[in-house]
Amino acid sequence: MKKITIECHNISKSFSNGSQTIQVLRNVNLAAHENELMMLMGPSGSGKTTLISIIGGILEQDSGECLILGKPINQLPEQEKTIFRGNTIGFMFQNFTLVPTLTALENAAIPLLCLKQDPTRAYERAKQLLCTIGLEKQLYKKPAQLSGGEQQRVAIARACVHMPKIILCDEPTGFLDHERGMQIMQILKDLTVSNNCTIIVVTHDHRILSFADSIVEIEDGTIKQSK
Ligand SMILES: Nc1ncnc2c1ncn2[C@@H]1O[C@H](COP(=O)(O)OP(=O)(O)OP(=O)(O)O)[C@@H](O)[C@H]1O
Ligand SMILES: [Mg+2]
Repeated sequence: MKKITIECHNISKSFSNGSQTIQVLRNVNLAAHENELMMLMGPSGSGKTTLISIIGGILEQDSGECLILGKPINQLPEQEKTIFRGNTIGFMFQNFTLVPTLTALENAAIPLLCLKQDPTRAYERAKQLLCTIGLEKQLYKKPAQLSGGEQQRVAIARACVHMPKIILCDEPTGFLDHERGMQIMQILKDLTVSNNCTIIVVTHDHRILSFADSIVEIEDGTIKQSK
């Protein structure tokens, strides 16, 4: 039996904008295992980003429990949560959120520097990863000087560079051509084997579905189907 690494029990979440409250997640249950690459699909606005943000400890659920490697991530004391997240989780945001004043190389090395790795080694590792994904000419450019696909790859590198056990990627291939998208997915898939990672990929991209070990469909904040 593979170890369960991500467990969501009855997760609900709503947002209020002044007088209006919208329920975005309704009693979501989900489990993912080590060595699993799960794809999370569903229409725009169905709650995908909200769900992986809760799993990644970026947003807090209103009710329910989310266990990451057995720990209730959003109930941990703030400092413990920050350390746990830094060690355990890599997160690629849908809008990349690269630091505009830092180069591609510096952005990709952030998780290692936060973990107090030796800077020379951190930059060497980040450089090696960026070169693998075709960014050898972009290492010293800032995000504004990069194309959408290049920024997307820097964001993916930042999510993987510290070899976290849990990698959460929000639309990692939307800006990439077919060949580059396949390469990125192969790198993620390889990490599920070589590093026993669990990876959740939010996607609308049907070209990459063959890389999935499991597919979860969410609609209007409810899990519709898992396979
Ligand atoms: N901070 C927020 N405040 C208010 N409403 C929000 C907030 N974040 C998300 N929402 C709303 O929650 C719903 C779900 O948003 P979410 O970003 O999770 O959808 P999604 O499935 O990721 O969509 P997409 O495929 O377009 O990225 C949407 O109706 C969105 O407008
Ligand atoms: Mg989204």
